[in-house]
Amino acid sequence: MNSADEATPAAFDLDRIASETFLQSIDFHETLASTNDRGLQLANDPFVVTPSLVLTAAQTGGRGRGANRWWSAAGALTFSVLVNPDAVELPVARHPQISLTVGVAVCEALRQRFPQGDIGLKWPNDVFLHNKKVCGILVEVPPQRRDILVIGIGLNVNNSLKSAPTELQATATSLSDTVGNKFELTEILIDILQMLEQRLNWLSASDPQLARRWEEFSLLRGKTVYIENHQHGITGICQGIDEEGGLLLRTPSGIERVTHGIVKHFQ
Ligand code: BTN
Repeated sequence: MNSADEATPAAFDLDRIASETFLQSIDFHETLASTNDRGLQLANDPFVVTPSLVLTAAQTGGRGRGANRWWSAAGALTFSVLVNPDAVELPVARHPQISLTVGVAVCEALRQRFPQGDIGLKWPNDVFLHNKKVCGILVEVPPQRRDILVIGIGLNVNNSLKSAPTELQATATSLSDTVGNKFELTEILIDILQMLEQRLNWLSASDPQLARRWEEFSLLRGKTVYIENHQHGITGICQGIDEEGGLLLRTPSGIERVTHGIVKHFQ
């Protein structure tokens, strides 16, 4: 277990995170531009240990999907988990399902803590709380190490959206904004990592419960969805998510199965 910075802030109990989760290594930084960038860098090391965690108390240049940026402020959880799919016997062909699996893990971790919460998954990997985005997930494969996945998770916890850019305030939320109190970041992180381990195991075992869970949490079924996919736009009524993670849209020309893209609107 290593910690890149000498001082561990009160916000994270690294010993607890190490002893209560499946991680083999923790790379902690007080400040980091992007935990995914750091994860991609670590993945180039031939001796990189997996599963490992890149964690920062303050992420200053977080990236989202496509050209999007990820806003975060003090009190947010921003981290990346490096896993080796071979180690969990995950065939490369099933990598697209990883985003949904991670989304399900976050939804379930939040549901444990907020059983009454209205928690939903916007295909493939945005987690919503009370109809606002609370968590974004960015899964990347390092170009030089196709056997490793960098799973980046940004969860708004104690950071208030009141200090966010105006355009985010209407569409995003944090746990503390929604529930009204502050949370131990270590506890929330451990919940997510423990659930992530379990759901990645389901994925490697092709457990049919997984597809039922992403369907159960999906916010899109029955909704009219507009999705942008490689510069093309597709509009259709969502019929669900299939067992391979594809989004099924009923369009005027029939059912379209979408495997990549960003949902821009749904209603
Ligand atoms: C999205 O909603 O488009 C995905 C956002 C992913 C943000 C997380 S924060 C931790 C990790 N590091 C990054 O630079 N991005 C991901």
